[in-house]
Amino acid sequence: MKRIFSGIQPTGNITLGNYLGAIQNCVKLQNEASCDCIFCVVDQHAITVRRNTGALKRSTQETAACLISAGIDPKNSILFNQSQVEEHIKLAWVLGCLTRVGWLNRMIQFKDKVGKSKDNASAGLWCYPILMAADILAYKATHVPVGDDQKQHIELARDIAHSYNFEFGTEFFPLPKAEILSKSFRIMSLCDGRKKMSKSDSSDMSRINITDNVDTIAYKIKKAKTDSYSLPSEASGLTGRAEAQNLITIYAALSNKSLDAAILEYGGCGFGRLKQDLTELAIEVIRPIGLEISRLMSNTDYIDNVLEKGSVRARALSKPIVREVYDTIGFLST
Ligand code: AMP
Ligand code: TRP
Repeated sequence: MKRIFSGIQPTGNITLGNYLGAIQNCVKLQNEASCDCIFCVVDQHAITVRRNTGALKRSTQETAACLISAGIDPKNSILFNQSQVEEHIKLAWVLGCLTRVGWLNRMIQFKDKVGKSKDNASAGLWCYPILMAADILAYKATHVPVGDDQKQHIELARDIAHSYNFEFGTEFFPLPKAEILSKSFRIMSLCDGRKKMSKSDSSDMSRINITDNVDTIAYKIKKAKTDSYSLPSEASGLTGRAEAQNLITIYAALSNKSLDAAILEYGGCGFGRLKQDLTELAIEVIRPIGLEISRLMSNTDYIDNVLEKGSVRARALSKPIVREVYDTIGFLST
């Protein structure tokens, strides 16, 4: 049986990259799948980098509001926040004891995030993929919709699951698969086409936030970096032109077209026409979501209630699984 789990960090500024790379896929899967879909706002992950405790609660609510506004139906899917279900942390300890230090040291995201100051990074940031594996395995999830950048973390979750199964001679954990529905949709920064569009980029001009208003969206696209050539008529012409590649990719993703179809449409044109169409399209797709987020955030009781009910359902699924792991390990329960 297929069981879907995905997590999104409540670090504020949900971007067009999050929407096109992950959230949209979650909504598609929820609407297609005749199975459990579990979506988690991973607030415990969010404290691995910087702690702005005053803002965390609101970011958690806003992230949940964003998922609901984008089409996640909390009656159908399970939507909750990680810290309300202690099974994740309980399982993470066990999985951490099965994880090799060398596996964690290979994680590209950790290396990217810490740069040269590895010794100053938090141990939490380094262990983060273990908690992520626990998020997934606490539900025996089989499919994990994520953006392309999370593939390595899912592979690690598979290695950890395999390691558990091997050590205890069972098939207890299914090996989870990354479900990357739109491989080409890695959305890059509007200021530098070689950098991922990220919530945490210091420049707000580098990203389109899901809550940006019409004028801001238009201004950011107008100012987005380009080069001085016209757009190519074939995909090979995008090589070495990161900004052109990115704007065409965003257009394709927003209009549900293939990259090749988008290239055909704009081959030989300057950036002006592409940017104009992109602005209209971005506003058409994002604005209704942004407005719905504002509406939901005007009364957070509804969101809190959704997250509480979701946590009860999540606990009902994960508790027996983690209990079985604890029994297998031999933790005494009286
Ligand atoms: P994060 O913002 O790191 O919490 O990511 C949440 C989800 O969005 C993950 O599944 C990421 O893979 C996806 N994601 C984040 N940024 C991008 C991006 N620029 N392009 C595509 N997917 C992204
Ligand atoms: N690491 C993911 C990210 O940064 C978020 C995440 C945490 C996640 N736990 C997860 C994604 C479990 C999928 C499944 O985007």
